[in-house]
Amino acid sequence: MKVLFIGDIVGKPGRTAVKALLPGLVDKCKIDFVIANGENVAGGFGLTESLVAELFRTGIHIITTGNHVWDKKDFIPYISKDDRVVRPLNYPPGVPGNGSVVFTLPGGLKAAVLNLSGRVFMTGMDCPFRTAGPEIERLSAETKIIIVDFHAEATSEKIAFGYYVDGRVSAVVGTHTHVQTADEKVLRNGTAYITDVGMTGPSYSVIGMDVDQIIGRFLTSMPVRFETAQGPVVLSAVTIDIDNETGRASGIQRLQLTYP
Ligand SMILES: [Fe+2]
Ligand SMILES: [Fe+2]
Repeated sequence: MKVLFIGDIVGKPGRTAVKALLPGLVDKCKIDFVIANGENVAGGFGLTESLVAELFRTGIHIITTGNHVWDKKDFIPYISKDDRVVRPLNYPPGVPGNGSVVFTLPGGLKAAVLNLSGRVFMTGMDCPFRTAGPEIERLSAETKIIIVDFHAEATSEKIAFGYYVDGRVSAVVGTHTHVQTADEKVLRNGTAYITDVGMTGPSYSVIGMDVDQIIGRFLTSMPVRFETAQGPVVLSAVTIDIDNETGRASGIQRLQLTYP
């Protein structure tokens, strides 16, 4: 099977680009399964029920999240109702929502998506390494195809995690920094890996946000309301080829498409 993983979709510009580009991309690359990180779809901060519905209509099957998942308060009760939206598994016990999902594709093939957060420069999370092991084992009983969104700040933590689960999952795709890294590879035991897939948002921006507002913040240290930047968008993604039987990856390719 072929998976498309789209990096953090930022605001309306990001959503518009996905709507315009995704059908053609699915067709051209013969994509079976589409995952996207949606933690920034609502003006850069969080998600809403209606925006999630909008993303599913574009052809996305599963939405992963990260530290911005709770930014919109109304989304908190919603996340427990829709298993196609996952939040990092390693939030403390009692937090709403699920950290993983097993999705059945048309034709009956099952694929699992597991969302984890790093904890270097990110607070309040349980250990992603120790949390991942039992969950991967549980998911493996249902399917060998397991794609991990590892939402983390530090490159070292992401790289270490990739090696830690090599051969136990099909892919580890890093998210959160919004900057695509050029280190995609299939690790020794068959796990596809990239430190960060990058964002889907305005190119002329500071990780999706208005340039002048962010520079102003650095110059003055005053609180500033950040807004999504405007202008042409870069859609950042990877495609991953996975063996249906073994769950091992045979390739990972980086993509950056511009819109318009
Ligand atoms: Fe993000
Ligand atoms: Fe994030």
